[in-house]
Amino acid sequence: MGPASASAKTDASEKWQAWYERQRKRVDALLSEHIDRSKSCVGSHSRLPAAVDYSVTLPAKRVRPVLVLECARVALGAGGEDWENDLDSRRPSERTAAAIRAAIAVELVHTFTLIHDDLPAMDDDDLRRGHPTSHRVFGEGNAILAGDWLLAHALTFLAETPGAPLGARLAQVLGCGVRDVIAGQAADLAGESTPVHADLVRYVHEHKTARLIECACRLGAICGGAGAEQEQRLAAYGRHAGLAFQIADDLLDCGGTPDRMGKRTRKDAAASKQTYPAAFGEAESRAAAWREVASATAELEPYGALGRNLALLAEYMIQRDR
Ligand code: IPE
Ligand code: IPE
Ligand code: MG
Ligand code: MG
Ligand code: MG
Repeated sequence: MGPASASAKTDASEKWQAWYERQRKRVDALLSEHIDRSKSCVGSHSRLPAAVDYSVTLPAKRVRPVLVLECARVALGAGGEDWENDLDSRRPSERTAAAIRAAIAVELVHTFTLIHDDLPAMDDDDLRRGHPTSHRVFGEGNAILAGDWLLAHALTFLAETPGAPLGARLAQVLGCGVRDVIAGQAADLAGESTPVHADLVRYVHEHKTARLIECACRLGAICGGAGAEQEQRLAAYGRHAGLAFQIADDLLDCGGTPDRMGKRTRKDAAASKQTYPAAFGEAESRAAAWREVASATAELEPYGALGRNLALLAEYMIQRDR
């Protein structure tokens, strides 16, 4: 690569990072606003509202909601600037408003999965998103209930999306995604007492992680008015990127640091988890993650420049250090 093309590549990557940071901050603002508005329906006479607020608003990457919004933009074929203006407007278009709802709902569901994943009965973790886990701060009962509330609320909120039958379709897609995540988490737990097996590792990863990322992309596509073929393409992109994301998570458990990750590392081997590095070794796991990114990117070919942010987001998923 000559100096001119190397500097063009640096420019593209800086531009992408700035875009991702803008989107992440937008999602943070949408979530805080949403939690504030929803306070009255979380309940009273308990620490449940505080537990919900705590886990949702801790700093996080917001990969899934960013995917919802970007897949909606791609399906709409909208230019970046127009889209961002619409996202920030007080009265966004109906499709943009639906995508915002879906983005919020997916992150609430993801937060539910993290709270429950950290429980003593599951991975028994004490650090999440750089802070003590929900059950450490609020007690196990409140952590279980905060997760339950987030799941029930996310599905209800999405089902109420204006423009029938859109709400029912979105809630059905998210509900199916969550069902698969739960099946994956159950297989993850059962897998602690089974020898590591390639087929089982793949099942666990495709279900516990890739399904929700696929679901985020599918929801975005539907909100953006995608036809059946486009919806399948964006969902397939999410499925491959989602598997790559979990392989990277496994690798970071071996080589990452708690300071950057905001969670404990080197726990998977100690818990005899079904992971890619345990099944295939670190080098082959890294190669497998890159193959999934290549498959994800291949789904974006018909979109040309419109798919660039998604292509770089797939790469980020495995090059991240947090
Ligand atoms: C952690 O998800 C759980 C996995 C599926 C590996 P993230 O890595 O997206 O965590 P946050 O949302 O940024 O905290
Ligand atoms: C978690 O997988 C997947 C879900 C939360 C559904 P992990 O157990 O590997 O996630 P971390 O490493 O605790 O974030
Ligand atoms: Mg787990
Ligand atoms: Mg865990
Ligand atoms: Mg992990």
